[in-house]
Amino acid sequence: MSSLLVVMVWNESENGTIGRMKSLLVANWKMNPPTFKEAKKLFEATKKAADTVKSVSIVVAPPAIYVRELRASYRGKRIAFGVQNAHFEAKGSYTGEISMAEAKDAGAAYVIIGHAERRAMGETNDDTRKKVASAIAHSIFPVLCVGEKERGHEGEHFDLIKEQLKTGFADVLIAKIPRVMIAYEPVWAIGAETAMNPRDMHEMAIFIRKTIVGLYGEKGMVVKILYGGSIDERNASDMLTHGDIAGLLVGRASADPEKLTALVRAIKNV
Ligand code: 13P
Repeated sequence: MSSLLVVMVWNESENGTIGRMKSLLVANWKMNPPTFKEAKKLFEATKKAADTVKSVSIVVAPPAIYVRELRASYRGKRIAFGVQNAHFEAKGSYTGEISMAEAKDAGAAYVIIGHAERRAMGETNDDTRKKVASAIAHSIFPVLCVGEKERGHEGEHFDLIKEQLKTGFADVLIAKIPRVMIAYEPVWAIGAETAMNPRDMHEMAIFIRKTIVGLYGEKGMVVKILYGGSIDERNASDMLTHGDIAGLLVGRASADPEKLTALVRAIKNV
């Protein structure tokens, strides 16, 4: 299922470059909705959107407790599932945590790692390094989130992003880079009123790629970059067209059936 979706989204050519075939939307439901009944309703709307707009692939990352049942109810191939976090240790005494193996067993093919809201709770770059490595070891695709809290006049945020990337990728072998997606989410644009300017995203995408190429050489060009932060039906198409990105990581607009439907429709022809 997971590899199927990736084959659908990415056309990997022989020289290792990737041709974009469709847009990817990662739906980070965060800690929503409050009941499984509502989760099923939201998933129904997501399913319908995915079925009607074939140019968009969707990864649904609900609260982990909903993953198994939603996955079990789904017969299609157009949606994959993810979790919003998982521990790097394989098992043990970590109250309240779930492991990569457990997430995978529940049906998750993707794991969001280092989200700004997890970093705000104390997650470090070194934790993200271990989680990315553990995800790869368990054949789950990591979505490594990076992003600065604020922008300085001297471009200090580039140093911070570079550090987040370098540490997050420190244990990733060159052969595994195509498995890792990078989600650039500037903290100041998360839960805000407006998204970042697509031109600034374009600049950041070049910087991210340059950083990965600096680590791995030309093979680093395969890295897939997503943008996240206040994306909705009004700005999504512009961001996909001008942001030099492969897809979007969406919070609020993915956790509301009407907004999600409008968003997917808005990027139908991108
Ligand atoms: P919003 O789309 O609600 O701004 O959240 C972005 C985000 O954090 C996605 O992971």
